[in-house]
Amino acid sequence: MCGIMGYVGRQEAAPIIIDGLRRLEYRGYDSAGVAIHDGTGLAVTKAEGKLARLAAVLEEHPLAGTFGIGHTRWATHGVPSDRNAHPHTDPGGEIVVVHNGIIENFLVLKEALAAEGAEFASETDTEVLAHLIAHEYDGDLLEAVRRAVGKAQGAYALVAMAKAEPGRMVAVRMISPLVIGIGDGEMFLASDVPAILHHTRDIVVVDNGEMVDITPQGWRIETLAGVAVERDTLEINWDAAQAERGGYPHFMLKEIFEQPQAATETLSGRLLDDGSVELEDVHFPDGFVEALDKIWIAACGTALHAGHVGKEVFEHLLRIPTEAAFAHELRYRNPLIQGVTLTVAISQSGETADTLAAAGLAKRLDSRLLALTNVVGSTLSREADDILYTRAGPEIAVASTKAYLTMLLGEYLLALKIGRDRGVIPPALDEALVRGLRSLPTKIEEALKTEEEVVAVAGHFVGHEDVYFIGRGLDHAVAMEGSLKMKEISYIHSEAMPAGELKHGTLALVTEGTPVVVVLTQRDLYDKTVSAIQEVKARGAFVIAVAYEDDTEVLKHADEALRIPRVHDLLSPVLSIVPLQLLAYHVAAARGHDIDQPRNLAKSVTVE
Ligand code: AGP
Repeated sequence: MCGIMGYVGRQEAAPIIIDGLRRLEYRGYDSAGVAIHDGTGLAVTKAEGKLARLAAVLEEHPLAGTFGIGHTRWATHGVPSDRNAHPHTDPGGEIVVVHNGIIENFLVLKEALAAEGAEFASETDTEVLAHLIAHEYDGDLLEAVRRAVGKAQGAYALVAMAKAEPGRMVAVRMISPLVIGIGDGEMFLASDVPAILHHTRDIVVVDNGEMVDITPQGWRIETLAGVAVERDTLEINWDAAQAERGGYPHFMLKEIFEQPQAATETLSGRLLDDGSVELEDVHFPDGFVEALDKIWIAACGTALHAGHVGKEVFEHLLRIPTEAAFAHELRYRNPLIQGVTLTVAISQSGETADTLAAAGLAKRLDSRLLALTNVVGSTLSREADDILYTRAGPEIAVASTKAYLTMLLGEYLLALKIGRDRGVIPPALDEALVRGLRSLPTKIEEALKTEEEVVAVAGHFVGHEDVYFIGRGLDHAVAMEGSLKMKEISYIHSEAMPAGELKHGTLALVTEGTPVVVVLTQRDLYDKTVSAIQEVKARGAFVIAVAYEDDTEVLKHADEALRIPRVHDLLSPVLSIVPLQLLAYHVAAARGHDIDQPRNLAKSVTVE
């Protein structure tokens, strides 16, 4: 986690860096800082709390200079404080460093430095890097950083500047993401593309184990062993305005309302008029699909919830056993990945450490690896054999919405492609699904119209500290995501479970007025789920159902219904999640929370 940003050029660096950090704040926001080089010396300003505090300090005490680095932090080593905020320097102030990730052997390094008399001003692992680089420095920052990182172990990205070399930034990527932005007589470094999109669309992605040497005139990448690396520039076609709030009070709400457009983008050019499915970066070898024994899905959080939908869809349509696994469990589980397998690693960022590790394990076990990801050029996409980009555009809010919905669409496309190659989807079903998928952008628009009812229903949740989400089959998969949305931004304890599981324990917690959200779309399971509604109603629960607009039965059982357009039951998750996203949003808003930056969380979890 953490966001890092660097700038060397002709403009004042501090405002550019603060602006970039503002767009990286989703990566961490417990403290922030900048270091600016004015051509003669380095000055550092840092502040505990959100970036706005640092910006206020800099307004009162500006730092002049056209070279600088900055950081917004999500604490791993040391509490959030001014002292532990980045950038960190060596005691002499010769070297300054910002860093994202963890130096795993920092204690050993720290003790060795302390034994030689070094004194530390913070509890961070980053300060150890500043000491180490200063220790190795003899006039060439690149070589000093190379020698220093040779001693460090961990997953991180760092950017360093030296007082004696104005205009030069040296960076290293060891797992944590880093991109270079190429301007005209100016250069940028950042953890993620939105930070620099306002300045340039020409991006170079730095790979693992690479070092970057940057001046206002250009960039150079080499390996840690000193071998020069050629790398193409990527042109990013995201609209910069997509990374702005655009009149919405929060990014989350904006991203919820961007879903019809995002869905259109995901499907565009992939579901062709003749009914064929064209996935531009998926190229299974001949015979692979026919021989496929098992599909593994590895992901975390919301991405895994998309994976649970994928499991149901793949098994139903393809009749291929599919397991959706927590990536952090899978990586240590000694899993039975054998035979002809496809591992679908799902990750919005493509940088989640656990998902990358599980994907790496699957590859080592000879599974084919498909990345279902939103971020072009992300580590996951670079490591995969096949890529299915979700094309959701930049997702800034920590609570994932449009990325989830477009992951679902990616799974449907993949299922159709594999199903056709295996010849297992009956033509009528295939046709119904294609028709249904095409109708989804318009139907998502319709589902967004539930907002007014959602605001009214949200009032029932605001004063509660425990809520439950239930459903069966695909509805249960959606309930899990609705519940996660609720807890992460409203801070209300929320649990999701299959409707049939309630009576095995959780029912004991349902009392007068307890809100229970029921997702009720699956025709085959409808009556069974209604039985669960009756069980909770009998204990006084207040039941809110998400149901089709033409369901005339639902209000005989539930207290309130949030209506979605009718669609093929297999596709219903794409619509039933929409009112649940809105519900979480409006409950959190009514409770006065910081919706885009919920406490203790960060958008990309690039540490284990
Ligand atoms: C959900 O709202 C969270 N942001 C979180 O669960 C997230 O989905 C998870 O950390 C995985 O992130 P990824 O998709 O970038 O891998």
